[in-house]
Amino acid sequence: MSDESRTPVALAGLRADDPHLEPSARNPHVVEAVIAALMVVGTLCTAGFGAAFWVNAKPWILGATLGGGLLFLGLGLIAWGKYLMPRGPFVEERHPLANDEVEREALASVLVDRGASIIKRRPLLGGLLGGGMGIFGIVALFPLLRSLGPLPKGTLFHTDWRKGSYLVDQTGRRIFEGDLAVGSIVTVFPEGTENTDRGQAVDQTVLIRLSNENYVTQKGRATWGPKGYVAYSKLCTHLGCPVGLYEQQLQMLVCPCHQSMFNVTDGAIPTFGPAPRPLPQLPLYIDAEGYLRAQADYDQPVGPGFWERGRS
Ligand code: FES
Repeated sequence: MSDESRTPVALAGLRADDPHLEPSARNPHVVEAVIAALMVVGTLCTAGFGAAFWVNAKPWILGATLGGGLLFLGLGLIAWGKYLMPRGPFVEERHPLANDEVEREALASVLVDRGASIIKRRPLLGGLLGGGMGIFGIVALFPLLRSLGPLPKGTLFHTDWRKGSYLVDQTGRRIFEGDLAVGSIVTVFPEGTENTDRGQAVDQTVLIRLSNENYVTQKGRATWGPKGYVAYSKLCTHLGCPVGLYEQQLQMLVCPCHQSMFNVTDGAIPTFGPAPRPLPQLPLYIDAEGYLRAQADYDQPVGPGFWERGRS
């Protein structure tokens, strides 16, 4: 048997010029152009998805661009495989599994001769596919990078409470000194943030009237509780649930999540449950017109502990 007759192509019953090795499309150049167009559109859609994700576009835009990218790139690949690859069918005769040196060299020569026309003649499509997949790979990193979010910087240490902030309820109405009877409670925000996400999250504060006289909850807080009003952060120091239940008889704030209890007469020190530290107290004053206002921001971070809590 000659070397030529033992090549895989020959063993498969084919010749290098066998028509089975021709693309199945009647007009490969037209098909190639269509596939190129599909891949260009797919690449543009994929790049559009990256841009849309970067600017936080609406979900339907994200879905449309990502779906379009996958769809058109996929259609291009399917059409490539179906219309431009050798049509077959290929039937391989039984033969020894391991090729010897002669067979390998023969195959290499066939690939050089024949593969140049079948595989290497599609540099445009190969380039487009590589470009599309490359952009897709880069864009796939966007969710990871962007989902890391912005650096918190100092935001974990501060709320929107400032010196002179008016206390307002959820409707934005300022709290007047006569608004709450002794034993009453209301959730308040610094004026201007009551309807914002951030205001709802870190600024929420419970205002409780404990008496009609100035109230001192802790040493060093002599002026913080004018006319019996005391204010504490509403974020539980355990896991951040809103501490919204007030047990008037016991003068305790109760967290509904894991039942931590905070003594509001004593600086909201936890007396029961998993909360590790007191609720921060907001220093208050009553201005000349009788409105309740903040003396300053909280003197410590609100809410549960976090990785740099030790700096506070
Ligand atoms: S979140 Fe409040 S006790 Fe767990």
